[in-house]
Amino acid sequence: MMTISPSRPGVSLTNVSLKYSVPHEKVRSIKEYAIRRLKRSLAFSDFWALRDISFEVHTGEVFGIVGRNGAGKTTLLKVVGRVLRPSEGRVLVRGLVAPLLGLGAGFNDELTGRENVFLSGATLGFSYRDMQTRFDRIVEFAGLGDFIDAPVRTYSTGMRARLGFSVATDVKPDVLLMDEIMSVGDVEFKEKCKQRIEEFRSSGATVLLVSHSLETIANLCSRGVLLVRGRVTASGEIDNVLQGYQATFTAPVGTKPGAAPRSA
Ligand SMILES: Nc1ncnc2c1ncn2[C@@H]1O[C@H](COP(=O)(O)OP(=O)(O)O)[C@@H](O)[C@H]1O
Ligand SMILES: [Mg+2]
Repeated sequence: MMTISPSRPGVSLTNVSLKYSVPHEKVRSIKEYAIRRLKRSLAFSDFWALRDISFEVHTGEVFGIVGRNGAGKTTLLKVVGRVLRPSEGRVLVRGLVAPLLGLGAGFNDELTGRENVFLSGATLGFSYRDMQTRFDRIVEFAGLGDFIDAPVRTYSTGMRARLGFSVATDVKPDVLLMDEIMSVGDVEFKEKCKQRIEEFRSSGATVLLVSHSLETIANLCSRGVLLVRGRVTASGEIDNVLQGYQATFTAPVGTKPGAAPRSA
């Protein structure tokens, strides 16, 4: 069995920036893309989705990341989960990371829920035997019943989220990354999530939580950051961060990507 390092988990970002390469003009088909790529007639421009981000998340902390659509929240979690490599800066993550990114939760649509549980387990470094001992508990928590043997493509977003969360938290990672997972569940599931996150926190895990629900963030997080077009414009105590977030809704919007950020 895989042993999870007992050393203090934690997440630390130092001056992290990330740029995407975006094609200049619209390309209408994959064929056109391939031809133009070969002819080198495709121009890319850099789009900085994250700019100079620094913060530290301590052991036993639930850390909130808020911001409007397109602010860079998902990109930030991907950088922490090592799905994306930062273009600049340093990312330090201690221990086993379970990334719950996006509503697909990394599932393969054509496989059944059961198969996906084992696949996700393997991705996180757990053996088949290991997942077997966890399986019933995982299905029970997810509340999927017989649906566990249906292909995941037949699941609702709520069902996917429940299964993803159930797997990711059963294996007790040191760092849990949650991207809008709770927003799609029903009230009962939200309660179960909250309880489990609280258990996690008190056992010394680190949780990074992205949510549009101010209530969820306020309830669960002690500290956090506000992202505005890829930059941190408020950080620290969650009340301050949420105040800053609410202010972004009354400020004029100009969501042109790459535009200079408003000062907070
Ligand atoms: N693969 C990609 N290529 C180019 N731009 C991207 C890519 N993924 C996200 N973006 C852009 O980066 C910005 C941040 O996106 P994202 O991290 O998904 O924001 P959020 O999760 O806060 O809504 C957006 O402007 C988005 O359009
Ligand atoms: Mg997102």
